[in-house]
Amino acid sequence: MPLAFADETDDAIPLHVISADALDKALDRLQSPARNWVKAQGFSAGLGEHVLIPDAEGQISEGLIGFGTKAKRARGRFHLGAVAKALPKGTYRIASGLEGSDLEEAALAWLLAGYSFDQYRKPAQPVAGLVAPQGVDAERLAIIANGEVLTRDLINTPASDMGPDELEQAARRLVADHNAAINVITGDDLLSSNFPMIHTVGRASTRAPRLLDLRWGQAGPQLTLVGKGVCFDTGGLNLKPGASMALMKKDMGGAATVLGLAQMIMALGLPLRLRVLIPAVENSIDGNAFRPQDILTSRKGLTVEINNTDAEGRLVLADALTLSDEDEPDLVISMATLTGAARVAVGPDLSPFFTDRDDDAAALLKAGDAVADPVWRMPFHAPYEAMIEPGIADLDNAPKGGFAGSITAALFLRRFVESRYVHFDIYGWQPNAAPSRPKGGVGMGARAILDALPELLNL
Ligand code: BES
Ligand code: MN
Ligand code: ZN
Repeated sequence: MPLAFADETDDAIPLHVISADALDKALDRLQSPARNWVKAQGFSAGLGEHVLIPDAEGQISEGLIGFGTKAKRARGRFHLGAVAKALPKGTYRIASGLEGSDLEEAALAWLLAGYSFDQYRKPAQPVAGLVAPQGVDAERLAIIANGEVLTRDLINTPASDMGPDELEQAARRLVADHNAAINVITGDDLLSSNFPMIHTVGRASTRAPRLLDLRWGQAGPQLTLVGKGVCFDTGGLNLKPGASMALMKKDMGGAATVLGLAQMIMALGLPLRLRVLIPAVENSIDGNAFRPQDILTSRKGLTVEINNTDAEGRLVLADALTLSDEDEPDLVISMATLTGAARVAVGPDLSPFFTDRDDDAAALLKAGDAVADPVWRMPFHAPYEAMIEPGIADLDNAPKGGFAGSITAALFLRRFVESRYVHFDIYGWQPNAAPSRPKGGVGMGARAILDALPELLNL
């Protein structure tokens, strides 16, 4: 069931959102029995507190929601999501205390609080309903929330049920729902079509590698999204140790995020042409696995010495990025769970991105801030180019030393793109439950990109 706002109803319970400094005024407004009740419950308008006030019949007449201080709020996001989950079932409306981007964030938080991944268990209790607040674009928010659902479901589905073929089927469902088109190149056809590195990384799996190529839209600037679709990353012959392999079903998080974003763009009917490229592979081991010190020739013709088969994401992305360039898009954005170094640098909450253009960076930073999807600019630091040049081939996929791992990976990708380019090195996983974000797969950067698109592409 898609996430949705509750139907309009006259008896929706009004909620008043109260920041800590507005507590006294809020109490003054109440009749004394209600005021006594609220005080007796110990309500102090702390972030995430709530108190429901009964009328003379003992029915809930209204609720007060604590919104805390600005400093407390800054320590997280989607705070209303936690309240939505805590409230008794019923239908609520936000009657006062929130406006503008706070109201939008709260409405989205409420919708996303309704997400749970229960494909493999009995469904969780539904959360209380919220009537779409006045003053927000409720339809847009619902579309955004359901794009996020797609991303989370794809990441959360274990690799046993989300291999390259199932990822293709997910893309095909999206295509069917939105009148888009898709072309898929599978298995040995990757060789005859000249995607050698996608084939090389994926060939040791029992599940054939492929390149998904989706197109939508008739007119407007062209946006090409490229997502890393490594359905499981064992590390290949340079096998990951168990602890590092534990979460690697999420290594298609970039693909899941660009598909979620694509769903948002198509459902909103944005005036652009969209192309989505996903190299979908499983990085596995077998007698025909690629090896350390193999030298691969990429689609672009650049040769790559393999110094670690676990640096596979940049290989499959490189061939997809080369293709992305070939029809001269206005903007290419790649999203990938590319390096452990990115997570070390910024942690799981921020989406690090790379661009050569200050204006694009500014647009993304501003948008991320506006829609509670924080992003952080990282440098394409040219002096590190030498680190990805091994001497024996044009490029090294895994520079020794391990310095600046996210930057060297980004520099590697940039070698394959001439177009205007932004690259996101995302984590794609919520390690501990937070409001509206249960532990598990999570979209990162997609809402920031969506919000920045009008500025990025002059829509
Ligand atoms: N999928 C991993 C990166 C990753 C690991 C993302 C953990 C998020 C959490 C990627 O394929 C990888 O293994 N990268 C290596 C590259 C190294 C061998 C140069 C890494 O980051 O350790
Ligand atoms: Mn890897
Ligand atoms: Zn990987």
